Amino acid sequence: MSNRRTINIGLCGLGTVGQGVWKHFGRLRAELEARLGARIVIRRVAVRSLSKARAVKVPRAKLTTDALALATDPGIDIVCELMGGTEAARAVTLRALRLGKVVVSANKALICAHGAEIFAAARRHGGHFLFEASVAGGIPLIKAIREGLVANRFARIYGILNGTCNYILTQMEDLDAPYASVLEEAKRLGYAEAQESLDVEGWDTAHKASILAWLAHGVWVRPEQMIVEGIERITPADFKNAASLGYGIKLLGIITRDFETDEISVRVHPTLLPEGSVLARVSGVFNAISVSGDVVGTTVYIGRGAGQDATASAVISDITDAVALLLHGKGAHFMGEELPPASRGARMAPPERIRGRYYVRLTVADRPGVLARVATIMARNRMSIASVIQNPSERPGSASLVLTTHESDERSVRAALRSLCALGSVREEPLLLRIGDLED
Ligand SMILES: NC(=O)c1ccc[n+]([C@@H]2O[C@H](COP(=O)([O-])OP(=O)(O)OC[C@H]3O[C@@H](n4cnc5c(N)ncnc54)[C@H](OP(=O)(O)O)[C@@H]3O)[C@@H](O)[C@H]2O)c1
Repeated sequence: MSNRRTINIGLCGLGTVGQGVWKHFGRLRAELEARLGARIVIRRVAVRSLSKARAVKVPRAKLTTDALALATDPGIDIVCELMGGTEAARAVTLRALRLGKVVVSANKALICAHGAEIFAAARRHGGHFLFEASVAGGIPLIKAIREGLVANRFARIYGILNGTCNYILTQMEDLDAPYASVLEEAKRLGYAEAQESLDVEGWDTAHKASILAWLAHGVWVRPEQMIVEGIERITPADFKNAASLGYGIKLLGIITRDFETDEISVRVHPTLLPEGSVLARVSGVFNAISVSGDVVGTTVYIGRGAGQDATASAVISDITDAVALLLHGKGAHFMGEELPPASRGARMAPPERIRGRYYVRLTVADRPGVLARVATIMARNRMSIASVIQNPSERPGSASLVLTTHESDERSVRAALRSLCALGSVREEPLLLRIGDLED
């Protein structure tokens, strides 16, 4: 053991994920050391508060509040950035990469905001940036796309990437319960953050979709460039309407590429999925991702997308890759900073050209002639109606009208919605959902 090299880790952050890494790494250390042929030591740990009570016991001498000092410490080889946020995390990450260290990160917001800069710094200075835990938690999705599916070009990747939203949608459907009460219960159980907007408005899914788009196509797509819609306006009645049409409802991140035009589209929205499809049946806090490659066909990955243990599993996987990299050089590993081979030429399709079928729920005045006026507006905007469901509305004197359409595009549906909103008989903003005739 004595002539073995020692690899030192600096752990920045000892919150949910950091404590999971400390706990499981401690348990697995001897086995990992035997398999990797090196001593692996968590040398220092950075936190915000030295006095905070924690579930894991870290020797006081290892603790510091200076995360940047871990990045610059010449004795530290691997920096695990598990702090969250984008400011301190960016500074620590860039400093470590510029010194040629390996950075392991779970921070999707950081990658989405500063990924181009981070990977460029890694390339320029010989550092490496590993980020398995940033998308789909414990599911080794990044490794699958980058390594296992290296022979493929990806026409479509889509999935349930936010466990909080999937939990809320599943409970609403199963219990026939309204969004607000399910959200409160999710917060009480710790499945939703006190500040839930990042999850329920779709932005967390957008961060992950952005990372997957880069991974598959080498293009950075900012959430502001995508269609990003959340789950807050879905009602139990929408689940009943969807079920009567043979669908469930899931919040999906969808990344597609047309290899003829070389255009990609990245979007996040609640989607009607055929009831029999694998992803429609994924319930609770689980994540599920369907990856279609031109050589392999479709592969599907299901598992825990967040939480202490699942995320620690992914971080420890990256740590072992980092140790192997430091001991043996790059070898067979495809590292974060390498652009995928299919990246050349891909560009964003204008969102208004995205095509699909739509579900539109309208609350309208319950009087004759309204459906005819709605149908006229749809026709004027080249939207062809496929089905109509009419139900009583909770609003007095109103009816709920659900239209599904044949294939159209975002420009047409947006124009139709604007005209419908201007109609006096439409009593509240229409709800638009996409129908995802996606195969998994
Ligand atoms: N939680 C999950 O299930 C999950 C899943 C996948 C990815 N992630 C990602 O993993 C990262 C960490 O998430 P988390 O849930 O573990 O967060 P967390 O529970 O809030 O923990 C953050 C930790 O970082 C420390 N910290 C924050 N700013 C710091 C600074 N400037 N200097 C030193 N220490 C600092 C905090 O110190 P104190 O403890 O002293 O406050 C805390 O220990 C985030 O990027 C998150 O998006 C989380």
